Amino acid sequence: MPRAIISPSVLASDFGQLSAECKRMIKGGAEWLHMDVMDGHFVPNISMGAPILSCVYKGVPGIFMDCHMMVAEPEKWVNDIADAGGSLYCFHIEATSDAISLINAIHARNMKAGVAISPDTPSTAITDEIGTAADMLLVMTVYPGRGGQKFIERCVPKVAELRARFPEKDIEVDGGVGPKTIDVCADAGSNVIVAGTAIFNAPNPEDVITSLKATVNTAQARFSK
Ligand code: DX5
Ligand code: ZN
Repeated sequence: MPRAIISPSVLASDFGQLSAECKRMIKGGAEWLHMDVMDGHFVPNISMGAPILSCVYKGVPGIFMDCHMMVAEPEKWVNDIADAGGSLYCFHIEATSDAISLINAIHARNMKAGVAISPDTPSTAITDEIGTAADMLLVMTVYPGRGGQKFIERCVPKVAELRARFPEKDIEVDGGVGPKTIDVCADAGSNVIVAGTAIFNAPNPEDVITSLKATVNTAQARFSK
């Protein structure tokens, strides 16, 4: 049974205190930290890259960096992110023509490989071969590019489609996810939950983390019956 993993998106954190913000999340119960890398090409914004991740990695012992690569030419950054301490390298399927070779390159650098689909990309873009080779599948529930957007509910059926095809795989949702939208995500079968504003802007982030996790674990226990 896939376990609940909470991955707070640091895009909503205070970048001036990034390492401290990551530590605060781990203390609050987060398993992973979601690091949104944007290149100004695949998406209009620029956020951060390998040099910053490398500093965070050194400052936060044991951190699992779930790197969401919103970049054109994702092949280009595998080595830099691996050298920076990335644990999982999640690329967009829209940005590559050879997902299998890219997954192999990510694995060769001892990172987990994730494959993301944007709101207008069907779940079938993840073929059986790609889905089997990947360690995680990411269904975007907003258009990639910035935090704080409204959850797009029509993306949720894609989570259920992927869960039916890949019962044991980590399936992540990202964008507008929080206490108000977690139920549909959990019921559809996602187990890795990214939340930026819903966690960082909460008066008590650990309460939000605990409740998101409980909702996912309850749903997963129901599936396994
Ligand atoms: C959007 C990013 C998300 C974003 C999520 O492009 O991929 O990770 O930071 O933020 P919230 O949870 O605020 O929608
Ligand atoms: Zn993201």
